[in-house]
Amino acid sequence: MKMDDMPGMGDHSGHDMGAPPRSAVVLPEGEALRDLPRLANEAATPGQFKARLTAGPATVRFAEGLDTPILGYNGMSPGPLIEAVEGDRVEITFANRIPDEASTIHWHGMPVPADQDGNPMDPVETGIDRSYSFELPEGSAGSYWYHPHPHGRTAEQVYRGLAGVFLVKPGTDPIPAAYGDTVLVFTDLRLAADGTLPDNTMTDLMNGRVGDHVLVNGQRNPALTVPFGTKRRFRLYNATNARFLRLSFDGAPMTIIGTDGGLLEAPVAADDILLSPAERLEVIVSFEKPGPATLYTLDYDRGWMGAGRPADAGLTLLTVHVSQTPAEPVPPLPDRLRPIARLGAPSISRRFVFTETMAMNANGMEMGFLINGAAFDMGRVDIVAKQGEVELWEIVNEADMDHPFHVHGTQFQVVEHERDGKVSKAPYLAWKDTVNVTRGETVRLLLRQDRPGPRMYHCHILEHEQLGMMGIVDVRA
Ligand code: C2O
Ligand code: CU
Ligand code: CU
Repeated sequence: MKMDDMPGMGDHSGHDMGAPPRSAVVLPEGEALRDLPRLANEAATPGQFKARLTAGPATVRFAEGLDTPILGYNGMSPGPLIEAVEGDRVEITFANRIPDEASTIHWHGMPVPADQDGNPMDPVETGIDRSYSFELPEGSAGSYWYHPHPHGRTAEQVYRGLAGVFLVKPGTDPIPAAYGDTVLVFTDLRLAADGTLPDNTMTDLMNGRVGDHVLVNGQRNPALTVPFGTKRRFRLYNATNARFLRLSFDGAPMTIIGTDGGLLEAPVAADDILLSPAERLEVIVSFEKPGPATLYTLDYDRGWMGAGRPADAGLTLLTVHVSQTPAEPVPPLPDRLRPIARLGAPSISRRFVFTETMAMNANGMEMGFLINGAAFDMGRVDIVAKQGEVELWEIVNEADMDHPFHVHGTQFQVVEHERDGKVSKAPYLAWKDTVNVTRGETVRLLLRQDRPGPRMYHCHILEHEQLGMMGIVDVRA
């Protein structure tokens, strides 16, 4: 594919081949962490969630005297937090007010019918309202999110601000309420000196867009004060287009309790965690001694093409001030969180090989991000699967960088990773919808699609998805 023919490239020309311009804008730090505003439920009947989400232009003041035009859901970025309960019937009216652009809302990770899932085949044109409705099955509690998925425009609409959290809570939660439930959404901002969001460069298209500032709930290094001896539950969301976040809590031990699709069977202690784009983790952090405790990034080599690999180690994302006042005693974390049924023996196995092609010729740079040798085609069904059947998917990364693999409509179970002929079992049984596949690695996972219809699978570096690293599995009854 030639650069100028690429979807979403518009009529820009003269793409800069080098490092993206780094902004000198300094964002204020240390403001109190804000809770994400909640989307109010307009339904009068219990068991129903009804609301309206409007996507459109908005303005944010990231730094004093600097107004940034963005896209927001209901005027904000991240979008309002949606919280519903297992068993709820959800109806959300989506109003697309983005000038001149189609959009959709995709319910990332959620078990919704294919025709309600905001697929690129179902665009909502500008000025149009459409309603998405679905039911949240029992057992579906988890940390989901929502974002646009229009053909060729997903990456830009997300980095311009469109993404929000969708929490599904269980009827009864095994995690003590005293731990709270704090959502931390990581987004990645690149800001020009005039406050605008620069377009993607060639480097961004190759590596995925990595910005200058990692924000937490839209804030740069916000602060939180907690009494010592307290335990807090955090839901960590990587809502960036392409930034890999290897995270650690300095001064406070961390325990993983959940993944994309909800709680684990049992807690797992962790020194540091890797959140690739689109992944989520639930952790419990114990603030055992007074003083500062910071959530910060460690180096992670995700493979980088060309110049300008951004420094990703040593960024402080959140500062927790642990006060001298001791906390009220809190109940301990239970040893067992919930049972997870292992998906049974697969009836078929499939292989997906991820490759990149890069060539300089008379037409300029030609670049392809491919699955099994093909770039995405909206008119083509890549594979046909049977509803309700367990399949083994083998994701093979033969490319030069990590690609986080994601599939719509279901949650899967990672079985094993193979690197240099060495197989290692998944560290714990978990429901996931996104898994990082490092370069040279093969990941094997089990999945079952319980609802019919076309589903997308793709790399969740959104620029790669946009440039072709996506396919369609048609699930048939
Ligand atoms: Cu986050 Cu195709 O999705
Ligand atoms: Cu998705
Ligand atoms: Cu990728």
